[in-house]
Amino acid sequence: MRIYRFLIVSLFLLHIQSFAQTTIPFVQQINAASSKISLASIQFIYTEDTALLQEINTFNIFLSNANKPSLKIKKSDTAAIKLVWNETMKDEAYKIELVGKNIHISGKKNGVFYGLMTLFQWMTQSVDKQNFVLRNDIYDFPAFTWRGMHLDVSRHFFPTGFIKKYIDILAMHKMNTFHWHLTDDQGWRIEIKKYPLLTGVGSKRKETMVDKHFDPYLGDRTPVEGYYTQDQIADIVKYAALRHITVVPEIEMPGHAQAALAAYPEFSCNKQASEVLTKWGVSEQVFCSDDQTIAFLKDILDEVMALFPSTYIHIGGDEVPKASWKACAVCQQKMKQQRLKNENELQSYFIRQIDDYVTSKGRRIIGWDEILEGGLAENAAVMSWRGEEGGISAAKQKHHVVMSPGSHCYFDHYQSKSSDEPLAIGGFTPIEKVYSYNPLPATLSDNEKEYILGAQGNVWTEYMQISSQVEYMAVPRLCALSEVLWSGDRKPGFDNFKTRLRTHFKTLDRYQILYAKTIFDITAEINTVGGKTTVALKNHFKQGQIHYTTDGNPPNTMSAIYNEKNPLVFTQHTPLKAQYFENGKALGAVFTTEILTK
Ligand code: ACM
Ligand code: ZN
Repeated sequence: MRIYRFLIVSLFLLHIQSFAQTTIPFVQQINAASSKISLASIQFIYTEDTALLQEINTFNIFLSNANKPSLKIKKSDTAAIKLVWNETMKDEAYKIELVGKNIHISGKKNGVFYGLMTLFQWMTQSVDKQNFVLRNDIYDFPAFTWRGMHLDVSRHFFPTGFIKKYIDILAMHKMNTFHWHLTDDQGWRIEIKKYPLLTGVGSKRKETMVDKHFDPYLGDRTPVEGYYTQDQIADIVKYAALRHITVVPEIEMPGHAQAALAAYPEFSCNKQASEVLTKWGVSEQVFCSDDQTIAFLKDILDEVMALFPSTYIHIGGDEVPKASWKACAVCQQKMKQQRLKNENELQSYFIRQIDDYVTSKGRRIIGWDEILEGGLAENAAVMSWRGEEGGISAAKQKHHVVMSPGSHCYFDHYQSKSSDEPLAIGGFTPIEKVYSYNPLPATLSDNEKEYILGAQGNVWTEYMQISSQVEYMAVPRLCALSEVLWSGDRKPGFDNFKTRLRTHFKTLDRYQILYAKTIFDITAEINTVGGKTTVALKNHFKQGQIHYTTDGNPPNTMSAIYNEKNPLVFTQHTPLKAQYFENGKALGAVFTTEILTK
């Protein structure tokens, strides 16, 4: 009897896994369906709710970008996907139900879109699985409302075609917020009609520092320029909206403003000409706190708010050196007049004026956690990047928070310790760490946790000159983050994720997305006791073999095969290299270590 029950339970789990294993982010609820449908049989798509026709068009564009035939729009009792508007369902939630020989997807507009994105993943993974059979119904919904990815287009400029691809990548992972970092010391990238020099001067820098040659400085003598016209931005915002993504623009103030001040030095404290910064780091050149500068920024925000319908407008606020305010008679006078004790309070006063203005237009500001210093503006939300402390403090003050701590959410950090990794800013944020993230700090009460909107991955591009490098750094860490944010407590664990991610790579391949393959990397446990070093090598995937060498040469398929049951034992100095192979092909990086047995 026990064995019988065990078998039933195992079969049930297998049944469920066959379905769940192919979706990222992991779906919330899976139930046995009342019918079975071969995915390859689906030819048509239709809806009786005209408001959902647009979702069909967008879905077909995704299919065609993935080099799959689009589905014919036709009502049919067999072989069709039927989209059904369901007003009673939660925002962003969807159901997929197998009804006879049709697949029904229901929800509100955004929910139906996410249902289609789930289906898109299955359809693009099933290239070599023509008999892929659906057997389950799904009910799915997100754990968090802010599921974001950021992109810095100031340090390096990326054309609109790539911005659209980036938005597609977000959408196919059910992310709903694109934080577009449009201005910084090294380039102003948004057309502002009232101040044409912002782009005329501020979008161009004469060169870029080579690698990390800060001191002595070495430039590459290659000019960089680029900006988005307002028409292009309007087009991107519309494109994103069709994919249920809100674009949150960021206009940096009062710091990270050197490109703007190169164009309009009259809004700096010292009024002195500067050039668009060519090296990385934080410029001392910041906006003055005088009334003219605030008026200038309000003018800019008027044009920004006209272009971006988002509730939130990101106003930066991070890394503001106070030296120029300390040396500025006007700023010091402002502090006296407003009875401000120090420059932190002046920063707070600066941000409050912007907060009041943006709030008066029916929007909200969000800023990096430095805006807490000197007191948080009344309506501001906080993006916590220097750890979670800023976010915790803001939530306790009943302000909304987006978590983006460097420890888990900075995708400009290294993702592997391999010496073959391209140059990055530093840090180490492997995908496993991203996957482990929980945006809800344990120190917050349940009421305070309500203020955590979600989290966001940040992609600062100092060391990403080209879009393929952005893809490599962002993907698949964003796949892991999407599961943190969508699946929440239902996230089934990193081993399970890695197995699904491997299948998901087929979708990414079809979409021609470049991604890092660190899930194939080998990890090692090394123990030295009494002149003897034992090395246990590990790899998640078991279909292939680990090959290793001890002579300093890179491993190949002729090299020794590692047997998991027999860890390697060394009694003398040895250069060890190992790599995971399948079908004669190396996957993942070469693991390298020097065994230093004394
Ligand atoms: C930041 O990384 N400076 C927000
Ligand atoms: Zn000043």
